[in-house]
Amino acid sequence: MCYAIPGRIKGFEGKFVLVDYFGEERKAINELKGLHAGDYVYAQGGFVITRVSAKEAEATLSTWKDLFFELQEIDKEGSKLSPWGGARYTKVRDLKDKVVTGEKLTREETKYLLDIKDTGELDFLLNAANYIRQRHHSNSCCVHGIVEISNYCAEGCGYCGISCLNTGLKRYRMSADEIFEAVRSAVEDHGFKALVLQSGEDPSRTIDELVFIISEIKRRFGVLIFISFGEVGKSALSRLYEAGARGVLLRFETSDADLFARLHPGSTLEARLAEIRHANELGYLIITGALIGLPGQTSEMIARDIELAGELNVEMLSMGPFLPHPLTPMANVPAPSVAGIVKALAAARFALSSQVKTLVTTGLETLAPEARREALMAGANSVMLNVTPLERRALYEIYPGRAHQDDAIQTQITDTITLLEGLGRAPTDLSIGKQ
Ligand code: 5AD
Repeated sequence: MCYAIPGRIKGFEGKFVLVDYFGEERKAINELKGLHAGDYVYAQGGFVITRVSAKEAEATLSTWKDLFFELQEIDKEGSKLSPWGGARYTKVRDLKDKVVTGEKLTREETKYLLDIKDTGELDFLLNAANYIRQRHHSNSCCVHGIVEISNYCAEGCGYCGISCLNTGLKRYRMSADEIFEAVRSAVEDHGFKALVLQSGEDPSRTIDELVFIISEIKRRFGVLIFISFGEVGKSALSRLYEAGARGVLLRFETSDADLFARLHPGSTLEARLAEIRHANELGYLIITGALIGLPGQTSEMIARDIELAGELNVEMLSMGPFLPHPLTPMANVPAPSVAGIVKALAAARFALSSQVKTLVTTGLETLAPEARREALMAGANSVMLNVTPLERRALYEIYPGRAHQDDAIQTQITDTITLLEGLGRAPTDLSIGKQ
């Protein structure tokens, strides 16, 4: 769980600390020295990230206390199962029962959910996915930030607007100091506790430089760092872990090896999966997933995508729409429907119920701004806000017209908090006291 409200240490168990949040106990891996029972800490993604003074912690907790329980009640009320839907759509109801008792769906069962067409049955699927999300994850909703540190890329992925094939794009590479300032602002001005650093596979940014950047961020800001620099290779992954990164965001894009090869000239699915598996073995939290709406993609393949994410020990699933970019070879491939994406997120919630957080992707919000709410009501429980400096953001054009491209960080936070609180979700990655 990634509560970014302070928790109080109750005890120790090997490399774990037991942390109390208003009477609920969670375990987190501790890498800080000199912690004692009774100390307050922030934990993220299962790692203790910083210690907090008792004064600061108690002030934050008193702001949170009543709200915490009020939100849980709103969420419980909003995620009740429709008895009518359950009586009518018995197959979805039976699959829901299977999930609730801790059993895994088969690939065929996930495919059944992905193939639902009837609007009544689809509504019940979304309702049941929301119910499962509430039972397994309560009302927590991760709010991570992402900083896009460079749009240079050596790869020629067929769908991507920042691929090296797009010679019409102005390129940028943020300096180390520019990155530190973006991170400082996200952490100190806005309260983020987990950040993704992302770029294309930028050949001019050396691993030494990335090691320096990450160790400085870790030292100065005590934030959970995810890296997303494409396939960097085994030795770079271990150096970046040593420097302090604790998560990797790397989609496998599709579980179909032939489709992968067609989209990624010169690369293989096998190599991509080996990279993700290696990151997981090193101890990184894994954010991965697939694109939906690729040419030739079937519901069988999407069911396999979901299954594969589970096999990769995914912490957070990032599954979103392909969106056509005019300056790519896939300019004329149409985008998928919003309903299809929301349905896939609901099916993933069934298939990977207790294991994963599922992300509402920016791609989905670009297709339809109101889809963030829809997805959060269909099993999703994470969002990522763009904290790249405004003057850089438009140039990170993986597809055109990205949602929140022109929104100040504070605007994104205010909109997110308003939406989450309306749904009874606790934005547990932001220290709300800073609002
Ligand atoms: N549409 C949707 N997502 C895209 N990405 C790249 N190009 C597109 C596009 N046209 C996604 C890829 C990659 C992530 C960083 O951006 O899935 O993993």
